Amino acid sequence: MSEHLLALETSCDETAVAIVSDGGQVVASRVHTQIDLHALYGGVVPELASRDHLARILPLVDETLREAEMSLEEMTCIAATAGPGLVGALLVGLQTAKGLALASGRPLVGINHLEAHLAAILLEDEWPTTPFLALLVSGGHTTLYEVQDASGGEGDRERWSVRRIGGTRDDAAGEAFDKSARLLGLPYPGGRALDQLAAGGDPEAVPLPRGMMHRPEPDFSFSGLKTAVRLHVEREGVPEGQALADLCASIRAAIVEPLVKKTVRAAEGLGVNEVLLCGGVAANGTLRQTLEQALAAEGRRLFVPRPAYCTDNAAMVGAAGWMAFRGGGRSPMNLNADPGWKPGGVGPHHV
Ligand code: KG4
Ligand code: ZN
Repeated sequence: MSEHLLALETSCDETAVAIVSDGGQVVASRVHTQIDLHALYGGVVPELASRDHLARILPLVDETLREAEMSLEEMTCIAATAGPGLVGALLVGLQTAKGLALASGRPLVGINHLEAHLAAILLEDEWPTTPFLALLVSGGHTTLYEVQDASGGEGDRERWSVRRIGGTRDDAAGEAFDKSARLLGLPYPGGRALDQLAAGGDPEAVPLPRGMMHRPEPDFSFSGLKTAVRLHVEREGVPEGQALADLCASIRAAIVEPLVKKTVRAAEGLGVNEVLLCGGVAANGTLRQTLEQALAAEGRRLFVPRPAYCTDNAAMVGAAGWMAFRGGGRSPMNLNADPGWKPGGVGPHHV
């Protein structure tokens, strides 16, 4: 008989609910994005985010159960993102999950949002085998992790433990896309729009800095890029037509190249053959293709979740939820949201 897990995600500006069955089969996955709400302010306004999550979450749970033609009582477990993220936003999903867990008598598992981005690959047909390297690139994070099996050989599935080996010293890659896009007058969060405008552009047209690219550490720096784009726009104005495509392609290359270079080098350093790319910026086709080719040239293989599971969603929380649940992870009802929760193994929240 199938087992079902209900997953909730409210860490930032997406309210999302999913039902994931038997470990990795997505039965229903709904995402309500608040982008229109925040676009007016050029970034996420935490208080508005919390209020909108509160208004949306229960109707979205109902809709998701209805789409799956299932009831709350049929769920085996309830999972929710407990951190990192905006504390007020996290609390809405987590407290709702507690209520649903209490009402149904099912266990609760609190999930780390970053580990959920990594676990999104479990929703695909194939995923990397431990030990592997993961590059997480999102609006708030740009981090390289070494992922190992923490199951100790128990059970029929791996349980990942995650160790940070490097990451950005300042802006995240998604932030670099979004801040550059804003300087070009594109609405928040402009990463995707900038990516689309880059089509047909010359990536070498505008020389832009590639922070830390030639340094040996597995770290990144993107804040200099933002300044360079600002100075370019102040000097020459926001270009149009082909010149705009050229500038966008140049910005994209200045973000993608250091990500690819450092990831390839980190894979070499760890001696791993399989690499995972995940998080919202992994929806970027140029990053996916360039990294795939660079790794393949050395006999390494890249795994990337489909774009809908790269950007924030609850199905990935379901995938991480299954991994934690099957590993015996259960969270207490006094589990608190942890806005700064760093990923790593079992985590302090599981008893
Ligand atoms: O993982 P995510 O949905 O939310 C966070 O947890 O941060 O990532 C959102 C980020 C935003 O910065 C957005 O601009 C970026 O992912 N993004 C993209 C693309 N699609 C989303 N950046 C570049 N190219 C894209 N196609
Ligand atoms: Zn995210």
